[in-house]
Amino acid sequence: MAKKVINILGIETSCDETAAAIVQNGTDVLSNVIASQIKVHQKTGGVVPEVAAREHVKYLVPVIKQALHDARIDWHHVDAIAVTKGPGLPSSLVSGVTAANVLALLKRKPLIPVNHVEGHFLANFLDCEEKIRFPVLVLSVSGGHNELVFMSDQLRYRVLGETRDDAAGEAFDKVARLLGLPYPGGPAISELAKGGDCLKYHFPRAYLEKGSLDFSFSGLKTSILYFLQKGLDYGKKKPSKKFLADTAASFQEAIVDILKEKILMALKKFPEIREVHLTGGVSANKRLREVMGIAVMRIILRHPKKLSYCTDNAAMIACRGYFQFMRDKALSLQRFSPVVSNPNF
Ligand code: KG4
Ligand code: ZN
Repeated sequence: MAKKVINILGIETSCDETAAAIVQNGTDVLSNVIASQIKVHQKTGGVVPEVAAREHVKYLVPVIKQALHDARIDWHHVDAIAVTKGPGLPSSLVSGVTAANVLALLKRKPLIPVNHVEGHFLANFLDCEEKIRFPVLVLSVSGGHNELVFMSDQLRYRVLGETRDDAAGEAFDKVARLLGLPYPGGPAISELAKGGDCLKYHFPRAYLEKGSLDFSFSGLKTSILYFLQKGLDYGKKKPSKKFLADTAASFQEAIVDILKEKILMALKKFPEIREVHLTGGVSANKRLREVMGIAVMRIILRHPKKLSYCTDNAAMIACRGYFQFMRDKALSLQRFSPVVSNPNF
């Protein structure tokens, strides 16, 4: 008998991307639609929550329709709806969760609440044809969160370290602003850094107490602020292109160094780890991939198959939703009850 396929519709609206995707059997991405609000938020240099919420309302229905269309399936073939419940911007989450509740009710589909960060942890499973070997060390780095995780299977994990202040992506965004670059800062800094010398300036790397796998980036951010103020003679001098490029490259190198060191420390502490996965918006960073590729040679290092799987997307939500759905099914738990958004979930 042919194996039944399970199609999950994922919906993601935790911040400034309105996204919907259809994922088959957890890892086959049939469609992945993202309406980015970057252009809208570039005008204000960051996300204005109320503006983001209104954009979600505008794009949710077309994005969901497009996801079904691209996957060449209709509602009849959707087995369940997975939606980001949190963490995220409260008003952004409410729009996606409300849409998911209404659709689940009308189309009589089970509804799966998914934690956004747990979705990021699984981004390397998307479109991955090889067998992933556990335990996996996941470094999930983005604008809103920054974790190092020991994952024993798709659903079970232990957080080994997290940020004590800013996330790495947030540091990229804030330093980009200081350098006069547009939002989001990560891609802009990495572009500018291409023409710079990463050894030109040495910025502090906070490794915290001996053995700690936590992160801290606020000191680095502050040191760049003072460095720029001093280097530009408190606003009297105009920065040269070379100065900005060297600063961007040296800052990027400091972030990459910290992330690399923490991964190497975790690998030493847990020699049973068989793969390292980079995920989250910052995992799109070329320098990080390059440095990690050299540092982690003996075990498998993965980063998401597409750049759109690094940053916020609904395919990772559908992927995590699939594994929760299968677990609940095995326990004869099927959810038809409404999901309530929770910014801290
Ligand atoms: O995962 P994501 O889309 O959203 C959150 O859950 O926060 O990550 C967005 C973050 C932003 O801070 C952005 O500056 C950063 O990821 N980012 C990058 C790159 N592309 C995106 N950081 C460094 N290098 C990049 N190429
Ligand atoms: Zn995210």
